[in-house]
Amino acid sequence: MKVINKISDMQRIACEVHSQGKTIAVVPTMGYLHEGHLSLVRIARDLADIVVTTIFVNPKQFAPNEDFERYPRDFERDKSLLESVNSDYLFYPEINEIYPTGYSTFIQMQGITKIFEGESRPTHFDGVALVVLKLFNITKADVAVFGQKDFQQTLVIKQLVKDLNIDIKIVVAPIVREANGLAMSSRNRYLSDKERENASIIFIALEEAKRAIASGERRRKIINSIIISTLRSVPEIKIDYVHTVKAHNLELADEFLPGEEIVMLIACWMGRTRLIDNSTTKIPINEFH
Ligand code: PAJ
Repeated sequence: MKVINKISDMQRIACEVHSQGKTIAVVPTMGYLHEGHLSLVRIARDLADIVVTTIFVNPKQFAPNEDFERYPRDFERDKSLLESVNSDYLFYPEINEIYPTGYSTFIQMQGITKIFEGESRPTHFDGVALVVLKLFNITKADVAVFGQKDFQQTLVIKQLVKDLNIDIKIVVAPIVREANGLAMSSRNRYLSDKERENASIIFIALEEAKRAIASGERRRKIINSIIISTLRSVPEIKIDYVHTVKAHNLELADEFLPGEEIVMLIACWMGRTRLIDNSTTKIPINEFH
């Protein structure tokens, strides 16, 4: 695997790849890789001839009070993990390469960037959209793979691609979990053993709600209350939000319709660590009596 630090080198390589009639898949990450990230690279391998993984802890998507400084980093480990899953290139730029002195262009998105994660982290998605667009332009990828773990992020990126007519296909990959159900995340590194154990309640809550839906529950408030009451069985958890909404546009409904794809979204604090998770499911078509 070749490590590329400069934008001009990455763009030149991308041009060469395309001139040979080959396609490029990109997997954008912030590093400190885990099995979730690696699953995206494996999927990318099947989607294109050449896989470019990017590692860049993007300062523009962190608010000043957030964990940009202490975000975990381990370049050597990340590099060997990416070699083990056959990423062809690792694009690993310095901050100054992406945002040089005099950098002036920003993205402002409306709509789904303002709710849920966007309400708790108001500048976050504009920062994500900016860096993702830059990474698309730098890697000239034909397809990009993102994880369902950040469900709202996948919708924001699809909206960005649609609105700005970016010629790229977006593929969303399933959530990879620890044995106890906790969704893998670089931020899990902040958790103590006890917190990690307690955090399994998030997955349990999602599964509990999914079971209720499978047996006929369609009322949004009831679904949310099942999740909330399950989460509350662990007093150390502080809920930021719980929302059950239509999966394609995050819209509310008092009662979901049979056949509708919905998503249950959770954000909560476990001590000083903010965790997000979600689960999608289809409202059953059968009538229950
Ligand atoms: P990061 O948190 O490093 O995640 C990189 C990619 O890995 C995202 O698409 C994320 O959804 C996916 N991912 C994380 N945990 C996962 C899991 N348990 N299972 C499956 N996929 C998982 O998301 C970002 O970085 C940044 O916002 C980025 C898109 C790179 C822009 O800076």
